[in-house]
Amino acid sequence: MNRENFGSKLGAILAAAGSAVGLGNVWRFPIETGQNGGAAFIIIYIMCIITLGLPIMISEFLIGRYTHSNTAGAYRILSDGSPWKWVGRMGVFTGWFILCYYAVVGGWTMHYTFLSLTNAFAGVPATQFGQIFEDFTANPWIPSLWFILFIGITHFIITRGVQSGIERFSKIMMPTLFIITLLLTFCSLSLPGAADGIEFLLKPDWSKVNSTVVLAAVGQAFYSLSLGMGCLCTYASYFDEKTPLAKTATHVAIIDTFIAVMAGFIIFPSMFNIGMNPNEVGAGAGLAFVSLPNVFQQALSGSPLLAILFSTLFYFLLFVAALTSAMSLHEVATAYITEEFNLSRRKGTLIITGTVLILGLLCSLSFGPLSGIQLFGRNIFSLFDDFSGMVLLPLGGMLISIFAGWRLDRQLYRNEISNGGDLRTPYFKALIFSLRYIAPLAIGLVFLDQQGAFNFLKH
Ligand code: PFF
Repeated sequence: MNRENFGSKLGAILAAAGSAVGLGNVWRFPIETGQNGGAAFIIIYIMCIITLGLPIMISEFLIGRYTHSNTAGAYRILSDGSPWKWVGRMGVFTGWFILCYYAVVGGWTMHYTFLSLTNAFAGVPATQFGQIFEDFTANPWIPSLWFILFIGITHFIITRGVQSGIERFSKIMMPTLFIITLLLTFCSLSLPGAADGIEFLLKPDWSKVNSTVVLAAVGQAFYSLSLGMGCLCTYASYFDEKTPLAKTATHVAIIDTFIAVMAGFIIFPSMFNIGMNPNEVGAGAGLAFVSLPNVFQQALSGSPLLAILFSTLFYFLLFVAALTSAMSLHEVATAYITEEFNLSRRKGTLIITGTVLILGLLCSLSFGPLSGIQLFGRNIFSLFDDFSGMVLLPLGGMLISIFAGWRLDRQLYRNEISNGGDLRTPYFKALIFSLRYIAPLAIGLVFLDQQGAFNFLKH
């Protein structure tokens, strides 16, 4: 079958960075950093990226590029008929599964962009933002329609293929995201009281660092870099033989971390400006859709136009970040179904979009008409969210590192990362050591921690 490749190295980097930079950078990283020791957390986070994020990312790149196949095909080719082929299939499933709820949130970002643009938050009392969000998500129609629009846009891009779809749009959207980030950072830093926000984010407080904080850094690094499933492996299957794998991975990690830190520069100065204590705010949807719209309104209440502009740009930023990640999730499943079942891209994309539509609607409606359907005390949306974040991703990451460290042929590995001997690879031994021992152990501990295995130590 004739496969497309990315047309340029820059396109490859921006597409992979688009997958990595997502909601996790904006609504999880800043809060985790602020609450877990500021710069101390950032240093630990960067160490996690170097010792475990990069080795796994390079391995996922390698597996994709070596086989030039979708993720299920890639592991099948490399596993010689052994059960390791299931790791690839699980990666495909994970991507598709995450997309079902991730696209629902993508729809929310569009709705909040629209509300900001139409100045719907002006004059709303601080206590009302929670109710506005609850009413919105409980509505049987509005969030579902935004979700359909979001997945429709993702579909439109993916159906156009690798170069004129993913690459072209990444080349437009990633610079846009970058410029908006810088604009918002600049604006937020010029607010009175901004220094307190920067101090909260950056002041190192090593006394807060304990094993839980380290595990939080591992989990965040992992989620933020889109590791543990098929995204990066699938994108790398469109890399050409000259793409330097380790360098590309490093660029992606730097872009991802930069945007995450900048998100902190956007959020905290405005929070401190209105006297809100970030320690009392949780990460996630509550931060993005309840606390922040209020923060932006109040911090910029002196200039209504600036408040509209700031808030609109912020939610548009979230939308773009979510869209480029959703594209990568969709592509994992689309590449799988088109290649494994010999379908046209059009048909393959349609099937994936159709299935995501059905399950995504269930997720979307689970805050309203379907809120009665609960399992383990969670609604459908949270089941998707927690099952992927707490089970599928860590399990996938652990299996990928074991596969790459113990099962992949060493010569093949070295040959691939050196591009057939063209590049020097002084880090090779350290990389393999991490894949064999450090990564599986660290991810295993995160996994156990998330299941509550260490709760008895925390009192
Ligand atoms: N890395 C993205 C984020 O930080 O939000 C999103 C993401 C994509 C997470 C793919 C996980 C994943 F498997």
